Amino acid sequence: MSRIVVVSNRVALPQKSGGSAGGLAVAVNAALKDKGGIWFGWSGRVAPEPSDAPEVTHRAGITYAVIDLTGEDYQEYYNGFANRVLWPVLHYRADLAEFSRADLSGYMRVNRMFADHLARILKPDDIVWIHDYHMMPLARHLRERGHMNRMGFFLHIPMPPADIIQAVPQHAQTVGALAHYDLVGFQTDGDRDNFARYLEFSGGRITPDGTGCDIGGRQVTLGTFPVAIETAAFARRARHAHRTRYVKAFRESLSDRKLIIGVDRLDYSKGIPNRFDAYEHFLRTVPEWHDRVSYVQITPKSRTDVPEYQEMDRDVSHKAGQINGAYSDVTWTPLRYVNRTYSRSALAGFYRVADAAMVTPLRDGMNLVAKEFVAAQDPCDPGVLVLSQFAGAAAELGAGALLVNPHDTESMAAALKRALEMPLAERRERHSRMMRVLEARDIDHWAEAFLEALVPEETSARRAIAL
Ligand code: G6P
Repeated sequence: MSRIVVVSNRVALPQKSGGSAGGLAVAVNAALKDKGGIWFGWSGRVAPEPSDAPEVTHRAGITYAVIDLTGEDYQEYYNGFANRVLWPVLHYRADLAEFSRADLSGYMRVNRMFADHLARILKPDDIVWIHDYHMMPLARHLRERGHMNRMGFFLHIPMPPADIIQAVPQHAQTVGALAHYDLVGFQTDGDRDNFARYLEFSGGRITPDGTGCDIGGRQVTLGTFPVAIETAAFARRARHAHRTRYVKAFRESLSDRKLIIGVDRLDYSKGIPNRFDAYEHFLRTVPEWHDRVSYVQITPKSRTDVPEYQEMDRDVSHKAGQINGAYSDVTWTPLRYVNRTYSRSALAGFYRVADAAMVTPLRDGMNLVAKEFVAAQDPCDPGVLVLSQFAGAAAELGAGALLVNPHDTESMAAALKRALEMPLAERRERHSRMMRVLEARDIDHWAEAFLEALVPEETSARRAIAL
């Protein structure tokens, strides 16, 4: 039976599992849990010298193999090209891109270094599954080293239209290098179609159904695989966490006020300032809700060495201070803005006791907070999801969430009011519509669907063995 070798920049090392991991680490961890496999990536450490060999840990069927980055790698590859060019441009923010040739060459160097380490690990029939924008050219480097394995790539973040992709300087070397995979997977059909158009502009021939491309003598399959959660396990976790002393104390601290919750890494793509503006508008225009609601925004700091994130940090803290200054009373704080991380269990409990969640990114590949919030609800008395139309999750949860445009402050404030005042029957109806989707397409379904598309024969052979 073939091994699955997963590669990503961020690895959810077992000793480090906490609430701060982004969507990728959470999803890959859940997907590998039952299948086992090797997970190769960055240790999260910066060291004076490059690693000679990966540091290996085995835990519950998963082999974690991680390497350190040097200060130069961290600066040029991670902070630089990945997080100051690819991240903003692919989130439709080409205006924020800060490009330098040194950063691009650092990005290519680290990808080659990953390929060198992997070349020593890979066996000919391993299935290689590479994740996210840090590793776009990796298949090309592996192919150059003679590895002809099946290789799939999944992009966790959005793929914008071709003319925005072209704002990435030297995009053919990075985004264009995705053509060296056998399968490239996206969160939504829109993302997939955008990439297909880009390949077409780059000389590719797209199949009439839009799911294949013939480019440079190679065949690439394009697919949509919306990333998911462990629906049943997360719901169980929330039921349990809800009864813990910690979550009870949190609920009691709100003194019977309604709770609005937001949980996001501190990132400009998440639209936190827009959300704060909407909450401020709500407080200003709906005074009858004063002292009857608390909004808790949990926001672990992220990528703190990147200047755009430092600026964002200052702006968001400033706005939070202004809202509390204007509306607080000695016995009521309308907004609790919290820059720390919580365990996944604590978050599950917080979601369960919340009356509404604000998940309103300006752009998001998927957004697993939206899905986890829904899974964590009590189906008899569920909270309401206010969801940005620009989150990938809107494609699946649009029938149950209150969809909003995060640029429209007044409509967002109106959606918030509607969420807090929604009758029980409507809340139940909306929640059950969303739960049906989350139950039908959980994380196992996601991983199976991707692997099936990548290696159809192998997956059916594995099924035959399992039977
Ligand atoms: C998003 C990205 C991931 C990334 C995560 C956390 O979910 O898609 O690739 O790991 O953010 O960001 P960080 O830079 O801390 O890994």
